[in-house]
Amino acid sequence: MRIAVTGATGVLGQEAVEALVAEGHEVTGVTRRERGIPVIEGRGARPVVADVFSASDLARAFRGHDVVINTLAKIPVGMTALRPLAWREDDRLHQEASVAIAQAAADAGCSKLIQESSLFMYPDNGDDWIGEDQALNVRSSAFRARVTEMRAAVDFANRGRSAVILRLGQLYGRDPATTDTLRKVRDGAPVLLGKPSDYITLLHHQDAGRAFTAALKARSGFYNVGGEPIRRERWAKDLGREAKADKPARFFNDIAQLALSPRLEVQRRSLRVSSLRFFNETGWTPTIGPSTLGWSRM
Ligand SMILES: NC(=O)c1ccc[n+]([C@@H]2O[C@H](COP(=O)([O-])OP(=O)(O)OC[C@H]3O[C@@H](n4cnc5c(N)ncnc54)[C@H](OP(=O)(O)O)[C@@H]3O)[C@@H](O)[C@H]2O)c1
Repeated sequence: MRIAVTGATGVLGQEAVEALVAEGHEVTGVTRRERGIPVIEGRGARPVVADVFSASDLARAFRGHDVVINTLAKIPVGMTALRPLAWREDDRLHQEASVAIAQAAADAGCSKLIQESSLFMYPDNGDDWIGEDQALNVRSSAFRARVTEMRAAVDFANRGRSAVILRLGQLYGRDPATTDTLRKVRDGAPVLLGKPSDYITLLHHQDAGRAFTAALKARSGFYNVGGEPIRRERWAKDLGREAKADKPARFFNDIAQLALSPRLEVQRRSLRVSSLRFFNETGWTPTIGPSTLGWSRM
């Protein structure tokens, strides 16, 4: 298939491109800068320089493709995430670029859109499982852009077209956010939110990349994509071991947790999310877990 990937130079996009190329697809990676070209070529795809906010650039990038995969995001890393303005670029990508991408993909005659989304929109559900039919908790204005993006993908799915929306688990692996976390764990600084008994649903970047390939087989709809949910106390131990620290990762104390920005409130939600629908639909299963030795170098 001929597949265009937006966000192709990002942590998620590079994994998606590599997995798609490995499956024999003809892949075009979109970047806004010349310096993204070698990154995309290095993963075996054809680069195209385009502005993801420009309808004409997107039309040029998507022409002749069967599928568009949108992995765009710009999530602030580390303590910068505490500043509300740090999320402006990420919001703009979901609010504006994702809408333009869905429209341009339809106009270019693409038959499928695969849209990256997040399972942080589910409510805290304690020890109970969460499936795709669980109502979302998106009351906070922090979710406005993500909801707009979801609607645009749903709107794409008419006139015989399909849209697959992947609600990805908390990503970890060899990426800037996880590297920053592991450094703090080694320094003994707190990194975890929520309670030790809460659940977390993680997804290694490599498995996320493979999920975009698997999603080519999926029918229109929402799919959760994550590994087996684990309690946060277990994740604390896995982080400590991976960081080669002598203790598990530390949790922020209750006062610090309450003082954190509303953007990070999602990190306190207990999310025991089932990805059974995606497994059944596509056969995808995670291959790397938080107890896999050396996951931060994979
Ligand atoms: N579910 C999750 O837990 C989740 C989801 C996403 C990300 N993350 C984490 O967040 C961290 C950052 O990852 P990320 O995916 O946000 O960022 P990233 O890896 O830096 O990738 C951003 C991608 O979006 C493009 N981009 C960024 N800003 C743009 C803009 N203003 N206009 C056009 N294109 C733009 C970039 O393309 P060009 O610069 O080449 O144009 C790049 O391909 C990672 O550690 C990742 O693990 C977590």
